[in-house]
Amino acid sequence: MATKSNSTGKMHDSKFHKLFVQELKDIYWAESHLAKALPKMSKAATTPELSKAIEKHTKETQEHVERLEKVFENLGMKASGKKCPAMEGLLEEGKEVLEDTKADSMVRDAGIIIGSQKIEHYEIAAYGSLAALAKKMGHNDSLKLLEQTLEEEKKTDALLTQIAEEHVNEEAAQE
Ligand SMILES: [Fe+2]
Repeated sequence: MATKSNSTGKMHDSKFHKLFVQELKDIYWAESHLAKALPKMSKAATTPELSKAIEKHTKETQEHVERLEKVFENLGMKASGKKCPAMEGLLEEGKEVLEDTKADSMVRDAGIIIGSQKIEHYEIAAYGSLAALAKKMGHNDSLKLLEQTLEEEKKTDALLTQIAEEHVNEEAAQE
């Protein structure tokens, strides 16, 4: 027996579903642009651990884009992005860090870590919310994909904290 709000047919017309799609488009735009910006950040980093961590996350970010395409596909939609002003601003801040710091300095590395963590926190908020919406709507396959990405964002954030504490901040404070 079909019930009102949780029948799938109804769900696709609901405002809640539209919000889910809007948020998907936002993070799809954000991830696609981030994937292009990360190699520059990795190149600008001096600490090998930092450079490697960003390189690894570049590959993960490409997978995040692919996972989002799968989520769109699960909804019977073609993936498309909507400009995410938040990510645009965060990437702009990342650029400013490079303009305001000297190459091969630990202060620059500290700045790259701060910028990257701001990005990770934005993504953690986005994926956490998307996962909650997917769960509520019973999109279980999509939920798994979103949670997988969410875990990778959290791990990247934790790794960046570790790199700052073990390799960067101490030396940056001496410069
Ligand atoms: Fe991501």
